[in-house]
Amino acid sequence: MIKVLVNGALGRMGGEVVKQVCAEKEMELVGVSDIFSKPLTLPDGSTMTTYSDTVAAVKATKPDVMVDFTRPDVVMVTLRKVLPLGVRCVVGTTGFTPHSLEEVDQLAHKHDTAVLVAPNFSLGAVVMIKLAAEAAKYFPNVEIIEKHHDKKLDAPSGTAILTAQKIAEVRGYLRQGHVNEIETLRNVRGGDMQGMRIHSVRLPGYVASQEVIFGGQGETLRICNDPVSRECYMPGVVLGCKRILDKKGLIYGLDKLL
Ligand SMILES: NC(=O)c1ccc[n+]([C@@H]2O[C@H](COP(=O)([O-])OP(=O)(O)OC[C@H]3O[C@@H](n4cnc5c(N)ncnc54)[C@H](O)[C@@H]3O)[C@@H](O)[C@H]2O)c1
Repeated sequence: MIKVLVNGALGRMGGEVVKQVCAEKEMELVGVSDIFSKPLTLPDGSTMTTYSDTVAAVKATKPDVMVDFTRPDVVMVTLRKVLPLGVRCVVGTTGFTPHSLEEVDQLAHKHDTAVLVAPNFSLGAVVMIKLAAEAAKYFPNVEIIEKHHDKKLDAPSGTAILTAQKIAEVRGYLRQGHVNEIETLRNVRGGDMQGMRIHSVRLPGYVASQEVIFGGQGETLRICNDPVSRECYMPGVVLGCKRILDKKGLIYGLDKLL
């Protein structure tokens, strides 16, 4: 049995993870934590009260894995406190920078543990990124449009950044568009990563869609991923919890465990 603590259990993703862990035969939900202490009703009708202190939750419940879906501005603070306790972490919270990822790797090695940071746990998104990197070999001109609900705090999404990084590994820097292009409305061409443009849409109604559009001579190619509910992330989270047990250091991206 893999003992799991869910941090951010009162949130949208945390709540979904709680349900999934309870449904898994090889997993046991040993604790839930959030910033509030509140009774949480589990799928079998029983209740579990959230710890309002993540470190206390890890110490009291001794999980094999802590799953974290909290906030971009708190996740590093949490990891700095819990990794010295040796707990393995499966992190879905977005907003990491190359610098913070490096720190996570160092902390995990120092405390002989492992952290999976996956900007996107949906298998469809992982495949989309792989296909996008493949397509970039033939279509180096590319723009990314990511569309999320309007409660999302960070932009662009971690998935868009990861997609752009994987494409950049294939085609390098490429200045796109007209050399004399002028923006008459500030930022209308989106963010620039390695010369490719990323556009972030934030509207109620979306979960987390992404389109990668490639332009070639006389044709375009679009690769899209459209999750319809947060359930799409759960197979990836479960896989992460199972496969991280014999790992060390930082694993960045679910594809590394597939
Ligand atoms: N990797 C993925 O596949 C994936 C998918 C969807 C969302 N996300 C990311 O997951 C994160 C959470 O998304 P959400 O939609 O569930 O957000 P949410 O706002 O619904 O939930 C976040 C929860 O974290 C709690 N929280 C805040 N600070 C905390 C702290 N210091 N300690 C413990 N809990 C704390 C909040 O009270 C809340 O319950 C975001 O960063 C989002 O971008 C990742």
